[in-house]
Amino acid sequence: MKRIIIKLLSSLFAVIMGLSGLTSVAQAANSDTAVIFFSATGNTRGLAATAAVALGADKYEILPAKPYAREDLDHYNENCRVNVEQKDKALRPEIKDLNIDITPYKTIVIAYPIWGAEEPRIIDTFIESYDFSGKTIVPLCTSGGNDIQQSVENIKKLIKGNPVVKDGKRLMSNITAEDFKNWYESI
Ligand SMILES: Cc1cc2nc3c(=O)[nH]c(=O)nc-3n(C[C@H](O)[C@H](O)[C@H](O)COP(=O)(O)O)c2cc1C
Repeated sequence: MKRIIIKLLSSLFAVIMGLSGLTSVAQAANSDTAVIFFSATGNTRGLAATAAVALGADKYEILPAKPYAREDLDHYNENCRVNVEQKDKALRPEIKDLNIDITPYKTIVIAYPIWGAEEPRIIDTFIESYDFSGKTIVPLCTSGGNDIQQSVENIKKLIKGNPVVKDGKRLMSNITAEDFKNWYESI
């Protein structure tokens, strides 16, 4: 019975958060690090959750104004939405309720899946929406095999404010908090 009540309460909380239209879910108070992620099929969400816990960081999710349906993600279909977006380097998919205040953060970890060997265009939308002066950016990705380098080069070209942009890393979505912390402390 207790379990059912807890489950009901957490579902209610999730519904309220959903209805409020918040892009972001802050996790830790007074952190100088934010983990900001986009995830279409859940892998990067797992990595971002681990990273936020390992760093005691606040966590925010970038949500597309128009969610990606299963057929949008069918990258074996030449004309699917993602392939069309990735082929057009100038395309900027709209972010739902872009309300993340990056002012309090010294370090911003940006996590995303690799699409078409690069960062999703919605990451470009996010990058171009802010001035990152004085900050350090740590890119992270999950992927089926492609590495992060090309996306980091792209981000460096788009980003405003001349922040320090670390090399970043492709990580597994099920990395442990301990392994994540060990890697993070080495950069
Ligand atoms: C539309 C689409 C395009 C993809 N393109 C690539 C790619 O070019 N190279 C690669 O290594 N993986 C590619 N993948 C695999 C994803 O990068 C990988 O599954 C990632 O972990 C998905 O993250 P997510 O679950 O957070 O969305 C692609 C996946 C999708 C859905």
